[in-house]
Amino acid sequence: MYPKSFFIHTIGCQMNVSDSERMARSLTPLGYVPAVSADQADLVVVNTCSVRAKAEQKAFSLLGQLAVIKARRPEMVVVVAGCVAQQEGERLRQRAPHVDLILGTRAIQRLGPLLQRLPAHSGPLVDVEMGDLPDETDGARLGESNDGVSRFVTIMRGCDNFCAYCVVPYVRGREVSRSPEAILHEIRGLCDAGVREVTLLGQNVNSYGAKEGICSFAQLLRHVNAVEGLARIRFTTSHPKDLTPELIDCFATLEKLCPHIHLPVQSGSNPILARMNRNYTREHYLDKVAKLRNSCRQIAITSDIIVGFPGERRADFEATLDLMQQVEFDSVFAFMYSDRPNTPARLLSDKLPEREKRERLHAVLELQERVTAAKHQALLGSVQEVLTDGFSKRPAAAAEDSGEQWTGRTRGNKIVHFIDAGSRADDTANRPGRMVRVRIERALAHSLWGRLERPHAFGSPLKRGDSCCAESTLPD
Ligand code: 5AD
Ligand code: SF4
Repeated sequence: MYPKSFFIHTIGCQMNVSDSERMARSLTPLGYVPAVSADQADLVVVNTCSVRAKAEQKAFSLLGQLAVIKARRPEMVVVVAGCVAQQEGERLRQRAPHVDLILGTRAIQRLGPLLQRLPAHSGPLVDVEMGDLPDETDGARLGESNDGVSRFVTIMRGCDNFCAYCVVPYVRGREVSRSPEAILHEIRGLCDAGVREVTLLGQNVNSYGAKEGICSFAQLLRHVNAVEGLARIRFTTSHPKDLTPELIDCFATLEKLCPHIHLPVQSGSNPILARMNRNYTREHYLDKVAKLRNSCRQIAITSDIIVGFPGERRADFEATLDLMQQVEFDSVFAFMYSDRPNTPARLLSDKLPEREKRERLHAVLELQERVTAAKHQALLGSVQEVLTDGFSKRPAAAAEDSGEQWTGRTRGNKIVHFIDAGSRADDTANRPGRMVRVRIERALAHSLWGRLERPHAFGSPLKRGDSCCAESTLPD
């Protein structure tokens, strides 16, 4: 008998990517193997996002395609997981009657047991239970065989902030933090399996542990920094109001902590920030940026921006552009405001027309493109520490360049494609997981291009003095 196969579509943020990885791991002990496409799979999971209307539409469009496949192969099992499953719950029975299992955001770890109950159940099973999560230890993760070098580790779930536009608190529930012991146990296990970099995940990581009084996020970072074998630590996402001096100081003192912070500002206008319920002002934000740069001169700062929030006047929008010019973010994710179910912003008047929102979005992206280009240009000629994660799919940037092309990320989280002109088939210099030195030769719009330096390897993560310089030229 052939083993059963599964396929997972993932829409949305890193938390969804991490949840999908977790679901995949839980299917292996049940005898499932990965399928190359949904078309051929015995089990298809759509892990959904509802943070913006577009993401939700994408989920329903995928479910529509699966209805067609299921009409041909009624034995195929269809699961809807994540935020849309949580938001819609029982209503999905009507909207997508071909779905077999509706799995809410806090039911991810029950996928296996629920699948086993399916045959005895008539109609779809619905699990959108939101009760507090027990401190989930992902048994399948320990001893996991890894071909990747970088892994997500969820340290907390949910959000208590209730930003006026955001659906997350409604679909992911209140903040719950895992214990430091469980997190460290998981990270040690990953490092034993060859992982070099972890990204600590949560909707609001820097309020980690505050509610439970377990330990602060900065304390957790110090513990993670001490894990043997680990080379790099990243985290996302942070709320500006919870960025403490203790955390800012970590960028100066923890050698494994990568000099990059994703710090969503959303708007540069105080009246809009107040309407968004962000609990900080433009001045507070700029002050935190200055303190971060004081602690770590070259820290890369990235952000999220919403344009066209209800009531956003031209002057408010210009304040956002002005803040972007002052901060000079390394990159931004920019979004047009989108009405979401249950959120207070939905009820606000003064909604902006789509055309105006689109124009504002273009202006933000155009400005950022110029800033990013200048930041990339400034790196030309520098030598960067790159953690290799695999072969690069980009074609070589010039005809005369031959040799293997690899890809990886700098400590400041910039993608680097690089060529190893001297590589031989038996050369393990830059296999995935190796920390290598790359000289940057070309600045592209969204990435950098360079050449492996020889000697190529970093024996160990950078020394303290070097580590806080995101994009500095490293000693040859
Ligand atoms: N409309 C547009 N963008 C949104 N985001 C969250 N909710 C909305 C919404 N209703 C954006 C924010 C957040 C990012 C993950 O998505 O910028 O930081
Ligand atoms: Fe949403 Fe605000 Fe929580 Fe971020 S902090 S998840 S934007 S409610």
